[in-house]
Amino acid sequence: MLQKLFIISNRLPLTIEHQNGSYECRQSSGGLVSAITSYLHTSGGHDFSETIWAGVPGCSEKIWQSAISSTQQGDYTYLPVFLQRKDYEQYYSGFSNSVVWPLFHYFPTYVDYNAAYFDAYIRANEHFADVLSAQLTANDVVWIHDYHLLPLAGMLRKRIPGLTIGFFLHIPFPSYELFRVMPKPWQQAILTGMLGADLVGFHTVDYAAHFLNCAERVLKLQHDGQMISWDNRQVRADAFPISIDFEQFNNAYSEERVAAMRDQYLEVKGDKKMLFSVDRLDYTKGLSNRLRGYEQFLQVNPDYIGKVIFVLVVVPSRDSITKYAERKKMIDEFIGSFNSRMGNISWQPVLYKYGHLSFEELMGLYTACDVALITPLRDGMNLVSKEFVASRKDQQGVLILSEMAGASKELTEALLINPNDTNEIADMIKMGFEMEPKEQQVRIAAMQDRISTYNVNTWAADFFDQLYHVKSQQLAFEIKFLDNASRIQLLDAYGTSAKRLLLLDYDGTLTPFAKLPSLAVPGREVLDALQQLCTNPANDVYIVSGRDANTLEEWLGALHVGLVAEHGAAIKHPDGLWEKTIIAEHVTWRPQIEAIMQSYVSKCPNSFIEQKEHSLAWHYRNADKVLGSLRARELYELLMAQTEGLSLNVLNGNKVIEVRMKGINKGMAAERLLLHDHYDFILSIGDDLTDEDMFKRLAAVDGAYTIKVGNEASFAKYNLHTPQMVLSLLQTIGHYATRMTGV
Ligand code: UDP
Ligand code: G6P
Repeated sequence: MLQKLFIISNRLPLTIEHQNGSYECRQSSGGLVSAITSYLHTSGGHDFSETIWAGVPGCSEKIWQSAISSTQQGDYTYLPVFLQRKDYEQYYSGFSNSVVWPLFHYFPTYVDYNAAYFDAYIRANEHFADVLSAQLTANDVVWIHDYHLLPLAGMLRKRIPGLTIGFFLHIPFPSYELFRVMPKPWQQAILTGMLGADLVGFHTVDYAAHFLNCAERVLKLQHDGQMISWDNRQVRADAFPISIDFEQFNNAYSEERVAAMRDQYLEVKGDKKMLFSVDRLDYTKGLSNRLRGYEQFLQVNPDYIGKVIFVLVVVPSRDSITKYAERKKMIDEFIGSFNSRMGNISWQPVLYKYGHLSFEELMGLYTACDVALITPLRDGMNLVSKEFVASRKDQQGVLILSEMAGASKELTEALLINPNDTNEIADMIKMGFEMEPKEQQVRIAAMQDRISTYNVNTWAADFFDQLYHVKSQQLAFEIKFLDNASRIQLLDAYGTSAKRLLLLDYDGTLTPFAKLPSLAVPGREVLDALQQLCTNPANDVYIVSGRDANTLEEWLGALHVGLVAEHGAAIKHPDGLWEKTIIAEHVTWRPQIEAIMQSYVSKCPNSFIEQKEHSLAWHYRNADKVLGSLRARELYELLMAQTEGLSLNVLNGNKVIEVRMKGINKGMAAERLLLHDHYDFILSIGDDLTDEDMFKRLAAVDGAYTIKVGNEASFAKYNLHTPQMVLSLLQTIGHYATRMTGV
């Protein structure tokens, strides 16, 4: 059965306006609505039985009912969510647009820390969750959009645990230094809410990294740069740069109505040069900076006075919020004074429109102008810049784009500017006006190539692919504690088998971690349990460890157990001698890696290097928690880069980063041991990331029991909480076997 797709955003894609006694509907403004409607209109929804778009209609229930004859609108069905007026104000104008929006766009001084806003925000999200959960089944797919609904995924997850949930943030995610200025409960509600999703998408890798960093610091979670474990689930954070329907904008160039609009604008333009910009009224869009840059350009290049026009379109947005109303007034005044200062009776330097544009008007302006000037101080992506590039089928025109817009990472052939550098904006306007047609063509063609390849459908398809991938990974990773029934099953299998292989990790599995590796000596109970197991001739017991051979020999050598040292670099069978598994080791890498690790010992107090015969390990268990994991990530990335192309592996273990020769891991060690005999019972227990190699290898062996120590998801079939529980299991197995078989 096909699933239903629920798109959820604060605003529905249509806005109802009361005009001349009747209701008019127009498409809502902004990048979110543009992108999702394009996606749904082209390929979106094909893989689903039905698409439902839930959001706030921006009018009362009564008006909605009289203005909308059917909630079925071509590509999707509307699901209106009605909120109490006061709640809506405090949720939308308050927390969403006077806390999250300014903070996430790096305007911390604009934030209004009002506790009532936060409460209303949570209530509004709860209301969304209530309305939705009445419609959802666990089989459906939910795609939540943007900063108004940050806690919603977590709320839905609580109500319907198995739901497939994607979340996409259309604005930047700030660095921890900014995020932390919010009260802690707000930080936690936002992060845990977002982690309710299976996949959390951002426009750029920087935003995804900021999110993971905040989750690590605020919630003390570990991540591997993409996956983060939360609430017994693996959640993925990744970058999906949103795009546009390239074909729609490119083909529209030749449409009759667009061509007619273009002609009108070209007539107004005459033989002048034309600058164009369009954005929602917003302090993030850098309108004042843009106008200052233009003024500077005219002052430095007086020859252009009277020979250029700037068509500046500002789309109304959020004007009930003080900061926006103030901005509107400021722009009106600025343009008034600008035109009277710089213009004359026959020439106005700025042609200003405050209002919405139809698609034809927008296309007409994109394709008639010489230069598009887009200067946000901060913008998650900025679709206008991509639309402008796509619309230029003539491959002419110049894009001047702020490097603070997410789009600047992809549109690298634009003339990139810092919006705070007035001189640079002025210089680039001149450069744009004077750029040779050939150079314009080369730059636009390169950008078109990129946008057409990664368009809005590729963006959405990429997002859904990842979402399903995470979901299947979660199933493989699902945590299943070794309960009584499975324990009995394990004991039965053990009791009825003829030859058994037991692969046991040491640190964190047989003994808890100690402050220093040298202090984690095996206790009497552990030695007794191992003794009981290994004296049984049907058992081959191996301690599979990252430790060096000397330590293993010293601590466990008296037992009749096999020993695997340094993750498999050396092996000793129960009756045998130590054998090295590496034929010829190249040790030339050691000094360089050691020097890098040493610099991290200095940067991270209480961390230290462990020298092993075949590897080097940097331990940070005793370092400050936050600094330790921060440095560990840096060191890991640095070592990954340093060892690229070398036959070395960098291992991110439990509070340790280790570098060793490739081809040595516990999975390979398990592989060798499996060949040693015909085993009809296999048990492997470990706690660390390095043990995952062993679990993965044994996943292919029918009936093998694999157990992860700890509460994290793993490739192992089962989890046990602590080394103490492992000991108890091993003791039970030892006694059980004696009781059942007499040996
Ligand atoms: N747009 C609009 N109404 C208009 C003019 C433009 O909705 O009158 C569209 C524009 O085509 C673009 C979107 O608004 O798709 C703006 O998206 P962008 O990412 O540039 O900025 P946002 O408004 O989302 O911050
Ligand atoms: C940006 C936001 C969207 C929002 C749009 C218009 O694009 O990311 O979530 O819908 O602006 O803002 P408004 O407040 O009018 O919905």
